[in-house]
Amino acid sequence: MSTQQELDNIVSFYDDQVTLYADQEIQTVTLKALLGFGRTKKAGAEASVATPTVTAATVDGDDHHHQDLEVNLQMARYARKELPVRLARRVKSIQNLPFIIGTNPYIKRVYRLYYDSFQALTAFQEDIRDKEDLDRFAEVLRGLVESHADVIPMLSQGFLECKKYMNTADIQTFLDEMIRSRIGIRLIAEQVIALRAQRTDLLKDNDDEDSVQDNNSTITTDQSNVNSQVIGVVHTQLRPAELVKDCASFVQELCNVNYGSSPDVVINGQTDATFTYVPVHLEYILCELLKNSLRATVEHSVKTGRKMDQLVMQRSDRFLKGNRGPVVMKEDGSEEMDITKRPNEFGHPPVEVTIAQSEHEITIRIRDQGGGVSKEDLEHIFDYSFTTVKDEDESSSPSSSAAADGGGGLLDGGSSGNESESIFKGVSRLAMQAGLGGPIAGLGFGLPLTRIYAQYFGGRMHLVSLQGRGVDVYLKLKQLEHVEDLQI
Ligand SMILES: Nc1ncnc2c1ncn2[C@@H]1O[C@H](COP(=O)(O)OP(=O)(O)OP(=O)(O)O)[C@@H](O)[C@H]1O
Ligand SMILES: [Mg+2]
Repeated sequence: MSTQQELDNIVSFYDDQVTLYADQEIQTVTLKALLGFGRTKKAGAEASVATPTVTAATVDGDDHHHQDLEVNLQMARYARKELPVRLARRVKSIQNLPFIIGTNPYIKRVYRLYYDSFQALTAFQEDIRDKEDLDRFAEVLRGLVESHADVIPMLSQGFLECKKYMNTADIQTFLDEMIRSRIGIRLIAEQVIALRAQRTDLLKDNDDEDSVQDNNSTITTDQSNVNSQVIGVVHTQLRPAELVKDCASFVQELCNVNYGSSPDVVINGQTDATFTYVPVHLEYILCELLKNSLRATVEHSVKTGRKMDQLVMQRSDRFLKGNRGPVVMKEDGSEEMDITKRPNEFGHPPVEVTIAQSEHEITIRIRDQGGGVSKEDLEHIFDYSFTTVKDEDESSSPSSSAAADGGGGLLDGGSSGNESESIFKGVSRLAMQAGLGGPIAGLGFGLPLTRIYAQYFGGRMHLVSLQGRGVDVYLKLKQLEHVEDLQI
């Protein structure tokens, strides 16, 4: 057989494989199963899990090591069986895009990533029997998670270049599905990796110190914490106020880099509330919403010439009466300035984050005074790629420079020699979006993605614009413990 024939056979074998897997039903996992690990420790008998594939073992006393491993193994076996199905479905869905979109270098790259990950997982033995198998499998999953890190900026760039070939509604449907599925794939993969990192036997042996924080910047490896509060990627005592604080200082720095100043962020309400949630999801949502609010606030200050009147800063409350600032009416008829709403030294009014907790839900309201969203824009802000970042900025922003780099590959099938180099340049710039020194806005992916994350566990997100004044975003997240039967 010639090499070409061999190659063709291999390709068609994998195509058949993909079809075979993509035709299978998705076996969802319940949140209860994801949480099963910790639940077993707290409430032994109550621990059985509703899915056929993952069953949390019950734990009694001395058997902790063994049981930790057993739950980890079960989760890994489920991942080994389920992830190829989910990846194959994505491969198929990209194959079903209009041909011309499939020739875009960014889309091709995403396709390749899903195809390669599918192959890597199906090549792994089906039965994951012991610690050693698990270690190797966790490595494969880690590779998958890492290699998919830039999928969102790549999709964003790909569809920005291809939007003329597909209508907005179809793009929205494709991307919604792609992103929702990606969240599920990552959750399952990261749960296996994180459970492994948190296993008491490994922590005791101290031979795996680096793993827990890889996927979750807010979780500590403190052992008592690990046992009681952190179950893989789920945190049972997550304090939204703490997370808001971390995200605020990150986004403020980003804002400073971009504009030279930043609003303050006031956190109020039930700041001591805790709930069960996936910290990385909430962190993502908060950072995106804060980026939008801080950007709007600063740009509105520039637009309206808002500057801090030094006198206002220095003089007493008496001077501040009337329309000088927000006023609190006291019951004895006197007035006081509400200093929490006072503009800072740059003239920016603060962004206010209010936390409220009810039995089943946490509500986080993010309120800014960034002038709100115009009536015309309001119906588009949840569209992918909709952004009000201006054209003149775009000449140095990721979008247009990446388009210039990668655009040439579109019609020629992307076979030019420096295709990967140009993609890399474009994507690395786009990926800076997530890091300091990157732009604070510009892809038009923040809001649509944030809403998918918010809805993922049955939550909601609403944006209310008081045009001319500012925006309120209401984020309502369910306590995960109350949606344990939710299918992932
Ligand atoms: N708090 C806000 N105040 C005023 N306008 C807002 C606010 N939040 C969002 N917008 C508008 O909605 C648009 C879309 O927001 P979105 O977060 O999806 O994209 P972006 O911020 O432009 O880029 P990125 O993908 O980097 O987030 C913004 O460009 C902005 O015009
Ligand atoms: Mg944004």
